[in-house]
Amino acid sequence: MAFPPGFLEDLRSRLSLVSVIGRQVRLARKGREHMGLCPFHNEKTPSFTVNEEKGFYHCFGCGAHGDVISYQMQAHRQSFVEAVEQLAEQAGLEVPQQVPEERERARRVASLHDALEAACVFFERELRGPAGHEGLDYLRRRGLDEQTIGRFRLGFAPDGRGALRSALKGHGIDEALAIEAGLLGVARDRGETFDYFRGRVMFPIGDRRGRVIAFGGRALGDAQPKYLNSPETPLFHKGAVLYGLAQAREPAAKAGAVIVCEGYMDVIALHRAGFTNAVAPLGTALTEQQLELLWRLAAEPVICLDGDAAGQRAAAKAALRALPLLKPGLSLSFAAVPPPEDPDSLIRKGGPAAMREVLERAQPLSEFLWRMEWAGRPADTPERRAAIEHDIMEKVAGIADRVVQDKYRRHFRALLWEAFRPPPPPPRGQRKMPPGVHRHSIDRGPDGRLPGLPRPNPYPNAGGAEEQLLLMVIAHPELLEEVAERLGHLEFTDSDLDKLRQEVLKHLDGWASLDSEGVRRHLSACGFSQILDCLLEARAHDRIAYLKPDAPLEAVRALWEHVFNLYTRKEIGAELRRAEQQAGAELSDETFAYLNALWSSLTQGIES
Ligand code: UTP
Ligand code: MN
Repeated sequence: MAFPPGFLEDLRSRLSLVSVIGRQVRLARKGREHMGLCPFHNEKTPSFTVNEEKGFYHCFGCGAHGDVISYQMQAHRQSFVEAVEQLAEQAGLEVPQQVPEERERARRVASLHDALEAACVFFERELRGPAGHEGLDYLRRRGLDEQTIGRFRLGFAPDGRGALRSALKGHGIDEALAIEAGLLGVARDRGETFDYFRGRVMFPIGDRRGRVIAFGGRALGDAQPKYLNSPETPLFHKGAVLYGLAQAREPAAKAGAVIVCEGYMDVIALHRAGFTNAVAPLGTALTEQQLELLWRLAAEPVICLDGDAAGQRAAAKAALRALPLLKPGLSLSFAAVPPPEDPDSLIRKGGPAAMREVLERAQPLSEFLWRMEWAGRPADTPERRAAIEHDIMEKVAGIADRVVQDKYRRHFRALLWEAFRPPPPPPRGQRKMPPGVHRHSIDRGPDGRLPGLPRPNPYPNAGGAEEQLLLMVIAHPELLEEVAERLGHLEFTDSDLDKLRQEVLKHLDGWASLDSEGVRRHLSACGFSQILDCLLEARAHDRIAYLKPDAPLEAVRALWEHVFNLYTRKEIGAELRRAEQQAGAELSDETFAYLNALWSSLTQGIES
């Protein structure tokens, strides 16, 4: 139904709105406008205005409004094409016929949809047949039930070169079309066609309305790539699509919230856990188009990527891409799934509650950006502080919307001022630095906290969690860098322990090269020998395996995460029982067996 570009403008500019409407309505000039009795509702005094200059009419009585084409449609109950044709005749313009290529294109698009739909049905059927056995097993092993498999229309592409090809042929779909749909590939040497997806579990990718436009196929074993996506086709542009959009649209709009995760399995796991407003890009950084799609669903989409380095790099990319596009009220927020989990595995281990907790801790874009700019950068010289400030303000300058940019600038000015302000004088006898020399760093402001961010309420120090969190870091200084930020946000209830916490944070840069013994010597030299001895003594008899230098770092890390989670929430008993059950049921490899042993030594402490 498309007319060539420019034709409609041409038509509008050739017609006088006043004379077109004047054929039915008696119009009188009033200033810049013409007025008359509205043809669209009954009235005695005129409230219908026509503005020739701007090219539109408006009725203050019934709200009718539009340009010359909509007038023609409304007044004569014509379709768009009819109205255009009739107006063109009045204007003496020839109506261009719909170009044959265009008609052909529309037909082609429709048949691409048919081919993809046929393939989807084929894959679904194969999953239930003998060839799909392996695929179905795989999905079941990953905890998917029939309903989920059905809802996401998961399928299986059998491991042969021509299974889909012959199925499509049976449907009368020609090979050229199947190639264009991305379903068949063409061998470079002999020009022979072959099934593009082989031996993979298939995830159909839908458009906004849920029509299949592409597929993602997951290898069953270690075949590479792990996920293979359809090539770009006339229907499928990877950067313009979000996996799960059709399913998530309504729940997201209803909730005014949408979650963006990394991959197929995460979306499905989130849906199953009740987060039906989840979508994912297809293995690439979020594009502008995807951001626009997200903002149509919610004002502040939550970017919920894995907490590992790759996930956080992707989150940072999304932040930078979003900045220039921000509008008043439109932003992003950022939630990180604690490594090594992703939403799929987190939900399997901790249920929807664990996921909800992660989402609740989402930080606004401004805070995420602030941390991002500071991460790993010492701010101990004027030049380094200037560099941080410069980089932050450069990002701010990239915000196109003037109002948002201004608010960001003020916000960061205040934070920078706070961050660079000299700290209060150190407590007696603790610091040996000369007056006027201060150490600045994001992870430890003057009082060991991230400057400018709200201080959370102190949590009860149940069962010595505070000691545990510190001792683990002291025994394994390599952990410090990863946990420093979270440690920096806490404020321990026990004031002596809190001093020790602050001291520990001061060594973020220095400790990477020290072993535990070096660290203890260091702390003793700074006046913490008594409290340290006390802690170690108290823990000496309860089989504290994590204090041993040979404890595997992954296990200690997992334990730290676990204690931190317990510490920062209230239902400790319930959480612990759940964790224990899981430890029994799922944690199987060597590291987790070790973790299991650590649990028990800790359990005594925490439940008491
Ligand atoms: P992951 O490897 O984290 O995927 O990549 P996942 O969903 O957790 O995978 P499994 O099945 O549980 O092991 C995240 C996303 O990146 C894309 C996919 O969209 C995937 O879901 N990806 C990943 C690719 O496109 N190609 C790849 O080779 C790997
Ligand atoms: Mn993953």
